[in-house]
Formats: sequence, structure tokens, C-alpha cells
Amino acid sequence: MTNMKLRTLPLSKVKPGTRILYRADFNVPLVDGKVKTGENLRIQKTVPELSELIDKGAKVIIISHLGRPDGIVNKDYTLKPIAGYLSKLLGREVKFSEEITGQQVELLVSSMKPGEILMLENVRFQKGELTNSKIFAEKLAKLGDVYINNAFATCHRKHASVNAITKFLPSYAGALLHEEVTQLSKKLVKPFFLVLGGIKLETKINLINKLAPQAEAVLLGGGVGSAFCENYLGVVCNPYRVPISEGDKKVAGMISNKFKEKVFLPIDVVSVTTQGKVLVVDIEDLLPSSEIIDIGPKTIKLYKKILAPAKSVVWNGSMGVTENSKGEFGTLKIAKTISELTDARLVIGGGDTISFLSTTKVLDRFTFISSGGGAMLAFLGGEQMPGLAPLIEK
Ligand code: 3PG
Repeated sequence: MTNMKLRTLPLSKVKPGTRILYRADFNVPLVDGKVKTGENLRIQKTVPELSELIDKGAKVIIISHLGRPDGIVNKDYTLKPIAGYLSKLLGREVKFSEEITGQQVELLVSSMKPGEILMLENVRFQKGELTNSKIFAEKLAKLGDVYINNAFATCHRKHASVNAITKFLPSYAGALLHEEVTQLSKKLVKPFFLVLGGIKLETKINLINKLAPQAEAVLLGGGVGSAFCENYLGVVCNPYRVPISEGDKKVAGMISNKFKEKVFLPIDVVSVTTQGKVLVVDIEDLLPSSEIIDIGPKTIKLYKKILAPAKSVVWNGSMGVTENSKGEFGTLKIAKTISELTDARLVIGGGDTISFLSTTKVLDRFTFISSGGGAMLAFLGGEQMPGLAPLIEK
């Protein structure tokens, strides 16, 4: 896999009063303004490093995004509740600034004492973030002496707070970012299996192209699997109630030609008919326009058999519509199957799958849980990542 060495900031270089501009990815789902139980992995994983930095007397200024407010101030996406939540996890006050750049926040930063933390409002309220604006990045950079990027999950975006900002400050990878890159760079010991679900096959094409040649088999489920089924069988599938895009169909066709021997598709599925009836059917018997909500029991059994000799597994994306209790069985079973491969290195990514499984015990058995969704796909797919490139030691 990729062998990249990232610059990190030795703790000895952090002096009392050093202003650290710290890019985190606190993009977690909120319900009624509260972080949902089991959805705090991304926040929790930054706590050890943040604690170390404040213990050394650094002034930490946190930058993050939440959702996709498209460069417009939208209070539905405020980071304020996250500041409160982080404060509880750290056991210290986390101050909050509604301004992201400008005089007011500069004043707030200059009044910070060593060991204090300030979180800035959602950086995606600013258009300059999304356009990777150097002007915006320079304004942000004014708030710190050094910059640490610990937002692995955002590194596939060419945004100012992960890319342009590195032109203005000495820039380093945070502990979590470093850990992600180290873990995801590890060799995929053979027999290696790739398990892919979720939606948007198009976003997984690089990953499939890169990893399928090394894989013994690529096992598909979820919307991704359905895109292939539709291609093969001509039945119209609507995973997640959304018809499969033309782009996904094209990609499915291309992949099935290229990796014919390796790609495994669901042989049966749980479907909901247009009248709302839930049926377990062999894929050939799928009724037109019914919605696929999960892989079926024969597929689960087949995948279990295929995975048995695995020495490494990479899994991204749910096998079914886990938001629906009738569509969660396949994901739970595949998770259990993979977690029982005691001799194998098990890597899982994809925000939704992880939050769904976080209430079960299976995740404890995985070797590595990536905090990245799209970022994990991009990294493993060998894509150039705008947030990582500036941090690579030359
Ligand atoms: C994620 O949740 O994958 C990251 O926070 C990036 O979010 P985005 O897909 O909205 O850029």
C-alpha cells in the first residue's frame, strides 16, 4: 500500500502559549441539537491529543465543519452543541466563537490563556472554505502559530482549512490523521477480501480498481450490490427508495467486465413490493420496481463461506437499509461473520455503518475503525488527497 511519511509536531516544540490552529472533523449527526449516543467516535478520538496539547499550555483554536451548509450561515449546522459536548469529554471549558475570521475572533484569541480552547463556528459557513480561497486561509492562519490537521475524514476535499491554509503556517499531521494513514497503509495480507455496500457506486470506483486485483473476492451488498443486479438481470431495483443512477449502472457494467471472476453479488434479497409487502426472494424473482432493503439469508451464508479463509478484510458500507429495522439483518450478520475471523486483519470505514454497529459489540473485534467515509475510499483508492499532500515529509 501507499508508503507516506507525514510531518508531525513533537510535543517538545509546544510551549506554553503556542497558538495551535487545530483542524478536526466533528461532522457527526446531531439529533435535537445533541450528539447521538454511539456517534461520537470522531470527537472522542481527538481527546487524547487535545488533552496533551492543553496540558503543555498550548492555546488551541479548533476549526471544524458540520454538514454541508454551502458557504451560507445556517444555524441548523452550528457547531455550538459540539463545543459543549467536547467540553464534557475534556472536562474543561471549550469557548465558542461565532466569528470564524476577523477582528472579533482575533481579539478572543489574543485574550486566551495557556491551556485554553476555543472552537470556531462551522468553517463551511464561509464560501472561501469551499473554494480553497487563499485569502480566507490567510485570515484563518492569523489565529495560530502552527497548524495541525487531524481531520482525516475531510482530507479528500480541496478546502481552505485543510489545503490552502498550509501555505501560511508550519503544518503538521495530528495523531489521529497519522494513525489513519499508518493503519490504512498496512499490507493487505492474502487472502484478502473487499466487502462493499452503501450507495453511490461511482464514488467507489477507484477503490475497486485499486484493491480488486489484490482481492480474492469482492463481495457486494446494499445499493452498490443492487446496481450490479440491475445490470446483470435487467430488473429495476430501487435501493434506499432511490432508483440507481445511470452513472452507477455504467460503472457496474465496467467493473463486472473487468473483474468478472471476483465480483460476488447478492443471490437473494429482502425486498418491499410496491404494495408494501416485505419478501425474501431470489434475485431472479425480484418483482419489478420493488425496493431492495437488504441482502437475503442465502447471500449471507454464501458470503460467510467465501470469507472463511480471510487473512485481511476491508469493509465499507452497509449491506442493507439499516435505517429500517427490516433492512438491518444482513449488515449485522456480515459484521458478526467478519468479526469472527479471528486470524485476520479487519478494517472498517463508512460513517453510517459504524454508527449503526456502534451499539453492538462487534466493532471491538475489528483491527481498525477508520473515521473516514469518502476519505477512506479515496485513500485506499490511491487518490491524491488535498489535505494530506502538503503534510507529506519530502
Ligand atoms: C465525512 O463525513 O465524510 C466528512 O466529514 C466529509 O464530509 P463531506 O462529505 O460533506 O465533505
